[in-house]
Amino acid sequence: MTETMEKMDANDLKYQSGFGNTFESEALEGALPAGQNNPQECPFGLYAEQLSGTAFTRPRSENTRSWLYRAHPSVQHSEMVPSALGGLGMSKTETKRAYEVDPNQMRWQPRPVPKISEKAITFLEGIEVVGKSGDPTQKHGLAIYNYVANASMVRQSMTNADGDLLIVPQMGAMRVQTEFGIMRVEPNEICVVQRGMRFRVAFEGEENRGYMLEIFSGHFRLPDLGPIGANGLANPWDFQTPVAHYDAEDDSNGSEEWTGYTKFGGRMFEMSQRFSPFNVVAYRGNYVPYKYDLRKFNCMNSVTYDHPDPSIYTVLTCPSSEPGTAVADFVIFPPRWMAMEHTFRPPWFHRNTMTEYMGMIWGEYDAKKGGFVPGGSSLHSCMSPHGPDAATFERFSDPAKVDTTSPAFFDGGLAFMFETTFMLELSDAARTSPHREFTYQQCWADMPASFDPKAKPPASRADNLLAWRASRASNGAKRQKRA
Ligand SMILES: [Fe+2]
Repeated sequence: MTETMEKMDANDLKYQSGFGNTFESEALEGALPAGQNNPQECPFGLYAEQLSGTAFTRPRSENTRSWLYRAHPSVQHSEMVPSALGGLGMSKTETKRAYEVDPNQMRWQPRPVPKISEKAITFLEGIEVVGKSGDPTQKHGLAIYNYVANASMVRQSMTNADGDLLIVPQMGAMRVQTEFGIMRVEPNEICVVQRGMRFRVAFEGEENRGYMLEIFSGHFRLPDLGPIGANGLANPWDFQTPVAHYDAEDDSNGSEEWTGYTKFGGRMFEMSQRFSPFNVVAYRGNYVPYKYDLRKFNCMNSVTYDHPDPSIYTVLTCPSSEPGTAVADFVIFPPRWMAMEHTFRPPWFHRNTMTEYMGMIWGEYDAKKGGFVPGGSSLHSCMSPHGPDAATFERFSDPAKVDTTSPAFFDGGLAFMFETTFMLELSDAARTSPHREFTYQQCWADMPASFDPKAKPPASRADNLLAWRASRASNGAKRQKRA
C-alpha cells in the first residue's frame, strides 16, 4: 500500500495556507493530543516525536519545531552506512568530488532527460551538483544542483541533515511525499523541504528536469519589505503546507523494506526500515515543508525611470550574519509590466559582489536573444561582468525599435536566480559538462563601439533631465489627445 500517493487524485491533496504559521493537522480525528505535546499515552497508540528546526533556545520569533505523532518512531532503523550514492549529485563510483573556482561567465544548455527504457533514473540518482561553497559540517555555505529524472523513488526516503532544499521543477510535475503530507509541485511552482525532514519524490510523467538550492545555515524566510510596506512580493498566505497523510502498512508486522538515505556532512548514508517513514498521523508546529506558486508573486517595479536592482524580485531569502546580505536569495523574473520611460529596460551591464546562478523555467530571458533556454542555466560569479547580449542591447537602446513612452507587458518567460554572497566552487562535472556553452562570451563580442568624442555633447546634465521632462510632458499631451 506504500504507493498510495501516486494513485491519489491531485484534487485530493489538501493544504493549509500561510508562511511561518503554527499549523495543526490530523489525518485521523483525535490523533493530536489535546492541550499538551507528549502525554503519558498518545491517542491511537501513536509515538510523539519532536523535530527541531532551530536550537531549543533560539529567540521565540525565530524558533521553529514541530511535534509529530507517528505509528513508529523514526529512530527504528538499521545502522546508517555509507551509501553507494556517494554524495548528492555524485555518481555511484565517486567518493569525493573535485571542485574548482573559475571566474568565467558560464552558460549551460539543458541536460537531456534519458528515456526510461534506456535507464531508470530517480530524483536522487538524477541530481548533478553545479557548485558549492562552505561546509555543511560547519553549517556555513550552500550548494546548487540540477536534476533530470524519469522514475519515481519507490520505497525510498531521503533526509538532508545538511540544510534546507528548495526545489524548482522546470519540466514535469512532481509529488513530494513528506512526513507532513504530500505536495504536488509543477513547473511555475517551487517547494522547500527543510533540514531533517524525510521525503521522497514521485513523478507524474517520465520527462522531469529542474534545479535545486541547498543552504547549510539557517532557513528560508520572506524578505523584509522596507518602504514597500506590509504587502507585496510573495504574500505569506500564498504558501501552502500539506495536511497530514500517512501510508497504511501492508501488514501489522512491519515487513516492508524501505531504504532511507541521509545526507550528512556532504556524504550519503543509507539504512533500512521495515515500515514506511511516512507514518505521521498528526502533527502540530511551525517547522514544516511548503510550496509556493510563482504566478502569485506580486511584482514591484519602477513606474518612472530606471531599472531597480533585482532584489526587488526576491521570493525567499536566507540571511547571513551580515545585515542585508544573503546566504542565498531566490529571485524570479516573472511576466510583468515594464513602464520605465527614457530607460534601457532590460537588465543593465553590471558587476555584482554577489554570485548569480540563473535558470530558465520557460520562454526567453529579456536580456538574452536566444542561448539561455528553458532547462538551461548560467553563472555570473562575484565581480565577473555581464549584462545584455549585443542583439538585446542594440534593440532596446534604439528608440525607433523600442518605444519607452508607453508601458509594455513582458510575457516572454520566467527566469529565476539563486544569488549568494559566497563564491561558488564549481564541480568538475559542471565545468567540463558536454552541455556547457564554451562560446558563451561571444554573445558580447559584437557590442558596437559607438563612443564618439566628437558627437554633439548634451549641454549639461540639467539639460538631459530637462529633455526627459519635456518628453514626459509631450507624452502627457499625447495621452490627453488620445483621450
Ligand atoms: Fe546579474
